[in-house]
Amino acid sequence: MAEIVPTTAFVIGKKRGAEEEEDGGAGDQWALLPKRTTVGDPVAALASARHEFGEHGGVNMSIEASATFTVMEADTMRRMFSGELGPDRDFFIYSRHFNPTVLNLSRQMAAIEGTEAAYCTASGMSAISAVLIQLCGAGGHVVASGRLYGGTHALLSHFLPYACGIRATFVDIDDLEAVRAAVIEGETKVLYVETISNPTLAVANVPRLSEIAREKGVKLVADNTFAPMVLSPARLGADVVIHSVSKFISGGADIIAGAICGPASLVNSMMDLHKGALMLMGPTMNAKVAFEISERLPHLSLRMKEHCNRALVYATRMRKMGLKVIYPGLDDHPHHSLLASLSNPGYGFGGLVCLDMVTEERANKLMHHLQNTTQFGLMAVSLGYYETLMSCSGSSTSSEMSPEERAQAGISPGLVRMSVGYSGTVEQRWSQFERALSLLHPLPKQQQQQPV
Ligand SMILES: Cc1ncc(COP(=O)(O)O)c(C=O)c1O
Repeated sequence: MAEIVPTTAFVIGKKRGAEEEEDGGAGDQWALLPKRTTVGDPVAALASARHEFGEHGGVNMSIEASATFTVMEADTMRRMFSGELGPDRDFFIYSRHFNPTVLNLSRQMAAIEGTEAAYCTASGMSAISAVLIQLCGAGGHVVASGRLYGGTHALLSHFLPYACGIRATFVDIDDLEAVRAAVIEGETKVLYVETISNPTLAVANVPRLSEIAREKGVKLVADNTFAPMVLSPARLGADVVIHSVSKFISGGADIIAGAICGPASLVNSMMDLHKGALMLMGPTMNAKVAFEISERLPHLSLRMKEHCNRALVYATRMRKMGLKVIYPGLDDHPHHSLLASLSNPGYGFGGLVCLDMVTEERANKLMHHLQNTTQFGLMAVSLGYYETLMSCSGSSTSSEMSPEERAQAGISPGLVRMSVGYSGTVEQRWSQFERALSLLHPLPKQQQQQPV
């Protein structure tokens, strides 16, 4: 006979109607979170987060598939809308606001990133735009890294100025004095970076940038899409961490999703019924998606280790062949020692490798053979999938940038970005790579690098 599990002991907050027994915490949706986690390791922190059981004692949490939620007393509705009763006590209004399943995933994301709170969104772009709008307001100013994903670059250089007067100054974030000088007192609200940049794999010096942010009274927002588990930007000083969950965190190339991890005050402000960017623009996550992602978090660290391990093997071998390869795990990468000093132990240097084929034509030829002749990987944008994904960044995910901006960011026309997968064996994949490359020889002079 099945053991009877006291499931009510494990559900979020208090049961409906229990508000009279509860003291304090009114309006604080995060009262049940551990305070900013003291666990420094994301895996340990995730395991320390509360495990949610299913409604009938299932080992997996239940999916709360409802868009709307009923109450037992008519007055409870008023008390929920006034902020007196909230999700911390199991009072939910409507799933564009808080949804229990999305909230559970968000608690896990907060644990991984070591932030006080988190909330998940319909996409990475909606997470970025909602945070920037919330933190900047109309007419605010952002100091942004010049090395950003093309979509984020377009958001900052075209859409936000057009839609709400938010302006951006792009700087080389290696130049800390330039960062400091770009901050406009009273106007700059956000310093925006990617921890490992798309596609150039430059590493942000989060501790030093966070010192500047604190000194200048602005928020450091770090997009950690390329380095979940590998880097913990909030533990290094970032105020807000953003993810495109569509990438490594999902791992299946089957979901578009995002996450915002940061202080409870920020997440609560984004959910405000009158002025909240998430509540009012509405890019919240679906509960079924939240369940899917939550099931994949326990093996995220294992997946990341294998992505990183294979990326290092391939980058090292590519370099030995004399190819022009960009990978922060190689000791000639300008940020090699910086990343080694900032990363969580055991992960290595990230799961992406860039190969500079100099011209778009050669990049395309190589990708053609890698996909269609030897089956090394797939020509597709995005990253974090178990198969290797390859794209020529200049003509795809960075095509929103002007040729000058791409040149300044270090994106050559022949740059092939590879998100290294873990399907097949390392040697099987490597021989596929070698075979495809052999169909391209000889290498043009500029592309050859001294073997090391
Ligand atoms: C670094 C980075 N941030 C954000 C995004 C946007 O995420 P999504 O596609 O989930 O909206 C991407 C997408 O490629 C990305 O590479």
